[in-house]
Amino acid sequence: MLRSNEVLLGQDPPHSNYLEAYRRLRTTVFALRDETPFRSLLITSAAPNEGKSVISMNISLLIAQAGFRVILVDGDFAHPGVHLEWELREAPGITDACLTNMDPEAIIQPTELDTLRVVTAGAAASRGPDLASSPQMPAIMQALAERCDLLIADSAPVLGSAGTLQLARMVDCVVLVARARGNVAPVRRALKLLKDVGRDPRGIIVNDILDQDTPAHSYYYYGSNPKTL
Ligand SMILES: Nc1ncnc2c1ncn2[C@@H]1O[C@H](COP(=O)(O)OP(=O)(O)OP(=O)(O)O)[C@@H](O)[C@H]1O
Ligand SMILES: [Mg+2]
Repeated sequence: MLRSNEVLLGQDPPHSNYLEAYRRLRTTVFALRDETPFRSLLITSAAPNEGKSVISMNISLLIAQAGFRVILVDGDFAHPGVHLEWELREAPGITDACLTNMDPEAIIQPTELDTLRVVTAGAAASRGPDLASSPQMPAIMQALAERCDLLIADSAPVLGSAGTLQLARMVDCVVLVARARGNVAPVRRALKLLKDVGRDPRGIIVNDILDQDTPAHSYYYYGSNPKTL
């Protein structure tokens, strides 16, 4: 789980290369969206600890800073953490809305940035994997996507989480995060599973690339052809 102010934008002044890498990632997301429009984006990975949550939060912030209305949904039902990092209330979140037929508006929390709002996993997060298979979850995801320009969902790793594969089916676009210097085999397996549910990722974000000029920092590079792996 996340626990470092250094990697979250908007807290300490970030290293300029780090911020620049995120700006490039934002541009790539916009370019992908121009190519084939999408309103919802799932950020996932094959294995745990690849940097999904850091990337989900940072890219949500940067896209919102560009003036787009963003809703970040914490779809990691195994280790929900967005509310901790941004000091939001844990519930009600998306799982609570599934169980109670709550108005989707009631689960959207504001942040300091007008254009950025957050939906937490909720008090019933442990039931998330089952709720993701309920008819309520896609309806709520749809309702949330209609209330913003871009819904971005953080998630649990694909391998071992059927809930994430279900969430993938509810969004228009999926990207996979993989650490540089990591093992390729699980990434291949995750790509296959996503393909099997009809959600071939549009790209892979390679996290934690070391830059020789900035050894203490890492940055991101977006490769847009996962099929070549
Ligand atoms: N580029 C980076 N440079 C340095 N530290 C990083 C980087 N990306 C992620 N981290 C750190 O790695 C850890 C894992 O990141 P994060 O929680 O975003 O991964 P995750 O894929 O969401 O993990 P999980 O599968 O447990 O949800 C955190 O402590 C985070 O601060
Ligand atoms: Mg995470």
